[in-house]
Amino acid sequence: MQFQFNDQVVLITGASAGIGHQTALQFAKAGATLMLADIDATKGEKFAQELQTQGHKASFVRVDVSQAHEVENMVKKTIEIFGKLDIAVNNAGIGGSIIPTAEYNLEEYQRVIAVNQNSVFYGMHFQLKAMLAQGGKGNIINVASLAGMRPIKGNSPYTASKHAVIGMTKATALEYARTQIRINAVCPVYIRTQMVENIFVEKPDFEQKLLQSIPMKRFGTPEDVANQILWLCSDACSFITGQAITIDGGTNAS
Ligand SMILES: NC(=O)c1ccc[n+]([C@@H]2O[C@H](COP(=O)([O-])OP(=O)(O)OC[C@H]3O[C@@H](n4cnc5c(N)ncnc54)[C@H](O)[C@@H]3O)[C@@H](O)[C@H]2O)c1
Repeated sequence: MQFQFNDQVVLITGASAGIGHQTALQFAKAGATLMLADIDATKGEKFAQELQTQGHKASFVRVDVSQAHEVENMVKKTIEIFGKLDIAVNNAGIGGSIIPTAEYNLEEYQRVIAVNQNSVFYGMHFQLKAMLAQGGKGNIINVASLAGMRPIKGNSPYTASKHAVIGMTKATALEYARTQIRINAVCPVYIRTQMVENIFVEKPDFEQKLLQSIPMKRFGTPEDVANQILWLCSDACSFITGQAITIDGGTNAS
């Protein structure tokens, strides 16, 4: 898919792997300058170097997105290094265990909420400040999930965190609708990344079960989601804000 983001500064969390990694690659190919952010500094630094070697402008900042002061630092570093922030993709997330609520470990519950939900609020809080300071223009994409619309039985913490991401996206988009800042959420079904491979290792029978639940009878790819994110940030979508858009091979329609 051909989109151009020449000289636009794009900040992506969870950029060391999976959907975030592929989204960064697509933005780089479309001419953007990349600020990669992740808790995994080894992979993140390597990825930034690879992009630089290929002639792209890229840098890496280590962040634990569950920590507000680290998210603030991530945005500050982006402005320090590249001078502005045009697009932010709040993508970092964790799956959490698939265990019924009565048996769920409470510390793990708090971690899932902190990494998937609090992070998006912290992200938007500091990203909006930066975008407003530069004239009120920009795009924020929050990576939610189909689980933000339909529950995953056995994973109420993940389900709750992604419902919250969609709610925050809509409320915040309305607050800033009169500016030129658009805020949207993407809602993928199962995408074959490490997050999903981990489920198949733990529960091998899930692979066929989950596949059969998708009308198109295939899992999504990180490229599918990256394409959706670039499209939403492009001028083709200049009248779209406050939306939670599925990318699910027809699952939500079934
Ligand atoms: N894979 C799927 O099927 C699927 C479906 C719907 C939504 N999503 C969402 O997409 C996003 C990306 O998932 P993915 O499948 O690419 O996962 P992934 O595990 O492949 O990659 C996640 C990345 O986030 C980073 N990360 C984890 N915790 C972090 C933290 N506290 N601070 C900073 N970085 C952190 C990891 O190091 C990793 O690089 C997540 O928000 C996930 O919930 C994934």
